[in-house]
Amino acid sequence: MRTEILGASREGTERAKEYILEGGVVAFHTETVYGLGANAFNDDAVQKIFALKGRPADNPLIAHVHRDYDISSLVDYVPDYAVLLRKAFLPGPLTMVYPSSGKVSKFVSCGLNTLAIRVPSSVTAQKFLKTVNLPIAAPSANRSKHVSPVTAMHVYDDFKNEIPLILDGGSCEGGIESTVLDCTGDDPVVLREGLVTQEMIASVTGRCFVYEKKAGERPKSPGMAYKHYAPQCATAYFSIEELERALGKYREEKERGGRPFFLAESGIANELSKKSINVFPLGDTDEEMAQNLYAQLRRAEKQASLLICLEPTVCGGVMAGVMNRLKRAFGIGTEED
Ligand code: TXA
Ligand code: MG
Repeated sequence: MRTEILGASREGTERAKEYILEGGVVAFHTETVYGLGANAFNDDAVQKIFALKGRPADNPLIAHVHRDYDISSLVDYVPDYAVLLRKAFLPGPLTMVYPSSGKVSKFVSCGLNTLAIRVPSSVTAQKFLKTVNLPIAAPSANRSKHVSPVTAMHVYDDFKNEIPLILDGGSCEGGIESTVLDCTGDDPVVLREGLVTQEMIASVTGRCFVYEKKAGERPKSPGMAYKHYAPQCATAYFSIEELERALGKYREEKERGGRPFFLAESGIANELSKKSINVFPLGDTDEEMAQNLYAQLRRAEKQASLLICLEPTVCGGVMAGVMNRLKRAFGIGTEED
């Protein structure tokens, strides 16, 4: 099969609809990262996603719907605080987990009695979802454990000639995945930090917790148990206080004939590049770092033999989500994976 890359023109969305109705898998732009979508009602189609990605069978998928889709048939119950959050943040990068009505394929939620639903704001995603008018089960469009894709070319690099179509909407402006929020209990609980922060949620609902896995417990958001977002090159991770050691590691790699690069916030990146040190800048602000992270990791794995991360010093905003992805990419704090 040949992979076509089309915009969300009439031709693109109609073609996508044909593939989806045939039980196929289509990649599409969202405002966070690209998704790899299939008809959430179709068992075989949903299973194809797991096979394509090499995704563990216990890591559930998010069902994506257009802004006017009535989710009442998909879920059993929507708590009052979730109604407020929907009004405040949707369409947008907030995925909400509800008690499932069991209508979609059992493979979407991997046997859990809950369903994660997302209403992306990307124009491309909305056109696609509106045209198919079905819930589309979609994980990020990368091979399992690899860096998430934020351009159509990233998707192409991972799934060239294995999927028929990529709906291209350009670069993903958000850059990290949606916040996953458990809305099955009395209070909202963040399962995966993302672009809608705990503070933003609490400002609407008056309260919001962040889930912390207890030792030995299976995480509530199974995807959080796996090593993730890893670039395909050697990596090292240092705090800014360890700069001298990091530079030592850089020199060592260089002397060995390797191609070391740093990954660092832009202020530090500028200082390093003045000394002719190879560096990928992450940006200055929390939002810039979210936007640049995956693109820089994908660039790095093509050019670097060793990527040395200097931990960013910026705090607040979406940094909780950025730091979560960054640490997982560098294998920090994921020893149980
Ligand atoms: O921004 C995003 O969310 C992107 C785009 C494509 O929409 N999608 C995405 O999907 O990041 P994925 O599959 O890479 O991550 C989904 C996360 C996983 O951590 C998974 O465990 C969790 O959501 N999840 C899905 N269904 C769940 C459920 N019923 N209960 C708890 N966690 C769930
Ligand atoms: Mg993913």
